[in-house]
Amino acid sequence: MKYPKEYLDEIKTRLKVSTVVSKTVVLKKRGKEFVGLSPFKNEKTPSFTVNDEKEFYHCFATSEHGNIFDFVMKIQNLKFGEAVKYLAQLAGMQPYMFSKQDEEREKKWREYQSIFSQYVDFYHNELLKNQNYSVARDYLKNRSLTKEEVKKFKIGYIEKNPNYYEKLKKDFSEQTLLDTGLFYLDEKKKVYVERFRGRLIFPINNISGQPIALGGRIIEKSDFLAKYINSPETNFFKKGSNLYNLDQARKLSNKLDHIYLVEGYMDVVGLNKNGIENTVANLGTSLTDKQILTLNQFFDDIIICFDGDESGYKAALRAAENSIKELKPEKQISFLFLPDGEDPDSYVNKNSRNFFIDFTKQNKISIHQFIFSHYKKQTENNPSSMAIFEKKLRSIANTIKDDYIKKYVLEYFLEKIAELTPHSNYNKKNYNYKKTIKSLDSTKKIFRDSQSLTGVELKEFSLLYLLINNSNLIQENLHLIENIKLFTEVNRQVFEELLSKLKSGEKLLIDEMNIDKQLLDKIEKFAPIKHILKNKLKDDYEIIELFEDISRDLINYDLEHRIQELESKFSKDLSEVTFNELKELKKKQNIN
Ligand code: UTP
Ligand code: MN
Repeated sequence: MKYPKEYLDEIKTRLKVSTVVSKTVVLKKRGKEFVGLSPFKNEKTPSFTVNDEKEFYHCFATSEHGNIFDFVMKIQNLKFGEAVKYLAQLAGMQPYMFSKQDEEREKKWREYQSIFSQYVDFYHNELLKNQNYSVARDYLKNRSLTKEEVKKFKIGYIEKNPNYYEKLKKDFSEQTLLDTGLFYLDEKKKVYVERFRGRLIFPINNISGQPIALGGRIIEKSDFLAKYINSPETNFFKKGSNLYNLDQARKLSNKLDHIYLVEGYMDVVGLNKNGIENTVANLGTSLTDKQILTLNQFFDDIIICFDGDESGYKAALRAAENSIKELKPEKQISFLFLPDGEDPDSYVNKNSRNFFIDFTKQNKISIHQFIFSHYKKQTENNPSSMAIFEKKLRSIANTIKDDYIKKYVLEYFLEKIAELTPHSNYNKKNYNYKKTIKSLDSTKKIFRDSQSLTGVELKEFSLLYLLINNSNLIQENLHLIENIKLFTEVNRQVFEELLSKLKSGEKLLIDEMNIDKQLLDKIEKFAPIKHILKNKLKDDYEIIELFEDISRDLINYDLEHRIQELESKFSKDLSEVTFNELKELKKKQNIN
């Protein structure tokens, strides 16, 4: 079976040759190339070179030469198919599944590509040469775009009554043409219509540079037409997976470590015109995990620069909350906010390249700074508001997949909160102050006894304490406790007894129940929650919140415990079933 070219090309574009080779050979940068000692020969002076731009390696000592597939086949002694599997994994791609439909799909892909290339070329040349399209050229001139940008981005213009459909019909079936999304059937008139007629078109390319979709802008003001339309999703164009201009911008990753992520086509074009070429756009849809991961494969710092208006800010916030999950060590996501009413295109044109670059350096903030300052703005200086604030930040930090990043972001949030509340216990300096208070002997004893209890036991005590002291409320809200699992055998027994009593609808009279008095004493004495409840009458809502907090903690203990068990099981059996179970649990843990 043959792998589709589309799939192999994607592997090649995602992996630099130097990334693959440096797994085996120590490489040193020299100009545009890398050099190292040949892996094919014993040598003391390097004669092995790697060129990422040209996508090959060359060994001057042995004349070995090739691309990443050749290299892996040679070095690891693999067959082609095995090399593809290995490299696809390295590129973060799914292994390719061969099926009967593959040949069909490969054929469709070739047709799709051919239609798009012809279509884009044709209307690009029309815009450049057809004298009738002066309206479009004047529009571009007004926006101070030159031939150079039009060519670089292969911008085109489609007249209002085009008939390229008729031309393509000679070579392709109706269905094939419809499947490209370039045309649709006008049901009433029973004619095929060019979706982008009357618009400037911006080709959207896949990562290897082939056009697979279009964006189209009207050039005359209209009340009933959308300013921009984009291609619908097709077999070969999925919105959340592509970025406008990634095919060109990725080539700069040898020289630059950061990329601007902007909202619109014209922002990319405008920045390019001003010499800032490391830009991509996500085209009006919200940013996906996949887009972040793809950008991070090429660039260490993603600078998200959306429009300086309310909708740009909201989009940035959504992007921040969504992409923080994917934050990795050595990778950064930053945000750059422009003055109100500006977008990257207008701002760079008004000022200059250097101004924009300086502005970036001085104003970009990291993703966690942005999230913190956003939620801080909505917080008032009272306990309830602060509690909501902290909860929100904790839950955002918890979505981060990488454990180290999660830890440090959480620490950053908590430290910043501590700065806002100088008297809180987060502030470590205050601990010293606390210790100097002399404890009463009786308190000391309680402290000693309670130290023999584990954290889980104490949580369970708190739960039982709340339950016993708020039985009426709980009886009306049984759903709150039905799914809680206790770890300690004795506590669990008591809990189950209480639960079944509550379920029966009878009043809870502890003294008449058959419960170990010693245990009840201990709960009364050690349940940490009693200090929170002490001297304060809490309303029902607050009590319910306390229940929710405790049960969430206990569910997390349970998950943690099961994860540990499964991890040790997995290290022994290495079975996929165990692995999948583990994955599910970890997902749940992230949600809590
Ligand atoms: P903007 O309205 O900010 O456009 O939309 P822009 O980039 O500033 O364009 P100009 O300067 O007015 O020409 C940003 C992006 O949102 C999507 C498009 O992808 C656009 O590039 N969009 C916008 C739509 O899909 N439909 C619309 O009607 C408007
Ligand atoms: Mn604009």
